[in-house]
Amino acid sequence: MANILITGALGQVGSELIDFLLASYSGTIYATDIHKESTLKSNPSVKYAVLDVRNREMVENIIGENDIDEVYHLASILSASGEKDPYMAYNVNLTGTVNVLNASVTRGVKKVFIPSTIGVFGPEVQKEKAPRRHASIPTTIYGITKAAGEMLFQYYYNKYNIDVRSLRYPGLLSYKVAPTAGTTDYAVDMIKHAASGNSYECYLKDDTRLPMMYMPDAMNSTLHLMTAPAENIRVRTSYNVMSYSFTPRELENELRELNPEFRVVYKPDFRQSIADSWPWSIDVTDAINDWEFKPVFDLKNTVSDMFQNYRKFSEKLNPPD
Ligand code: NAD
Ligand code: SER
Repeated sequence: MANILITGALGQVGSELIDFLLASYSGTIYATDIHKESTLKSNPSVKYAVLDVRNREMVENIIGENDIDEVYHLASILSASGEKDPYMAYNVNLTGTVNVLNASVTRGVKKVFIPSTIGVFGPEVQKEKAPRRHASIPTTIYGITKAAGEMLFQYYYNKYNIDVRSLRYPGLLSYKVAPTAGTTDYAVDMIKHAASGNSYECYLKDDTRLPMMYMPDAMNSTLHLMTAPAENIRVRTSYNVMSYSFTPRELENELRELNPEFRVVYKPDFRQSIADSWPWSIDVTDAINDWEFKPVFDLKNTVSDMFQNYRKFSEKLNPPD
């Protein structure tokens, strides 16, 4: 029995995390986001509330009044949106994180999960198997705030003994809630277009390689990390995790096996320089050694599962005559 707070619960990760938590926890999930209206399925164990993580008092109150045991702090401004409003990204990503960490200390939260990202790496890092420990200088405001966030996790763990755990997610592939704020989102969009019989205009060059993972593996890894014994968690900044790397052209070829008519046009925009600053793959050795990280979906399985699910969805909207 644990009461759980999720911030940023309406986003790509939050809306899926809820189902994974419901399957493994009893207790109430306080799902929060900045939007007034919830888009979540209704469930008696889930209560929706508005929470702006930049507001320290609101964060303190919601944690204190609801006897929260665990926090999943997902509210964030991602890479592409961050470049459009760096000041907002700074405030949400850093002030929001400090507010959550402080309130967790003062209100006696037992465990906190805060995801980090491949965006913490900068262009000088080795492109293949970027080491977890590499001290990097990210070039995006997203990466800068997330890298500083990782240092705060370790600082709060050392100074206040708060059990903060983190994964550096790669690009996450999922079909339930469309991602709109990142650089890796092209992959989700490309699969959706192929499944609905449309061509696709890709905003990255065809040979841009990035590390990725399917959402069920990301969620299972998150729960695995959160339930591992505290003494196994040797990394208090953030663990590298990923399943596979691919380029837009490789994804296009994979999709053409499912839809031979599928075509992609490549027209890189401002997101190309963000992608170019990130590694092609990251070294996951620490996650394997410390808490047995083991994703199950390969690229083929991921693409075929997403493709079938998008197909089902578009058939529901446009049933065949
Ligand atoms: P998202 O953009 O889909 O969702 C973020 C949510 O935060 C949104 O629902 C938004 O309304 C909310 N939000 C924004 N400002 C807020 C504020 N001031 N107060 C409260 N809520 C606010 O992002 P996501 O993909 O769900 O990302 C969740 C976490 O996972 C982030 O920390 C992100 O850095 C990390 N991550 C995601 C990916 C990915 O591919 N999706 C990859 C790496 C890391
Ligand atoms: N998917 C994220 C982004 O592209 C990576 O953190 O911003």
